[in-house]
Amino acid sequence: TSVKVKVPATSANLGPGFDVLGMALDIYNTVEMSVEPSGTMMVESIGEGSRFLAKNGSKMLVDAVQKVFDTASFDPGGLRIRQHNRIPLFRGMGSSAAAIAGGMVAANLLLPNPLTAEELLMLAAKMEGHPDNVAPALFGGFVIASQNGDDVRYTRIEPPPSLKVVVAVPAFTLPTKKSRTVIPARVPLKDAVFNMGRVGLLVSALAAGDLEMLRHAMEDRLHQQYRMPLIPGLDEVFAAACNAGALASTLSGAGPAVISFVTENSEAVGEMMRRAFGRHGIDCRIIETAVGR
Ligand code: HSE
Repeated sequence: TSVKVKVPATSANLGPGFDVLGMALDIYNTVEMSVEPSGTMMVESIGEGSRFLAKNGSKMLVDAVQKVFDTASFDPGGLRIRQHNRIPLFRGMGSSAAAIAGGMVAANLLLPNPLTAEELLMLAAKMEGHPDNVAPALFGGFVIASQNGDDVRYTRIEPPPSLKVVVAVPAFTLPTKKSRTVIPARVPLKDAVFNMGRVGLLVSALAAGDLEMLRHAMEDRLHQQYRMPLIPGLDEVFAAACNAGALASTLSGAGPAVISFVTENSEAVGEMMRRAFGRHGIDCRIIETAVGR
């Protein structure tokens, strides 16, 4: 038997929800998997990052697959995996979460399905170190995921269908690890309080479809200000998107991609973000997309 799964790109944090909030985007990788009778492990990648993935042996995906097999005490002997990637790597769009979630869901489906969705989430969040990309990668839509050690609790909300997303994907990469080292281990209490308030507003705005609230609800004081020096022109990109009619903009995950929420004017918002990055000598690709499933 052969199984095939699709897994979405994700945008984590969404402004204030550092390591807690995430949204699936309408951009998908696919993973096909079958038991290989010859007993060898064969991984083939096409699309985004295939050269890098060939060199590193698609380690993240293979490790994720192995975690599921170990947990289910299953030894496939050999395995054939074919992935088609459309999510840009190392840009803050959840490519590693997609590798983890895609590998785990495909491996689980092959067996078939010894692990529950909750068990997959806990394994995936443990592997990634934070749950805010893997949760929407597994469940789609907008997800609130709260992790305490190995335990992860989550709630999924269906965002309003009118909500569209414009992503500016800079040509340079920024590993999440590096983008996390700049955030201080201690933050002022008033900043933590500010973000708690904004997260509350954001969850309720998306649940109620109150899109006008996003401009306030997506403000953040826990991570973006520290990451600004890593992404030249970031505040100008935010301002440009806002002037072009975006509802709100934020760093996507750990960056360097920026997402803007819109209900209209996608093209103008994308073009203004592209030009703002351009003024800092940064080429970027614009992707007009929507919330993923
Ligand atoms: N919450 C994580 C971070 C997401 O901001 O580092 C990484 O994509």
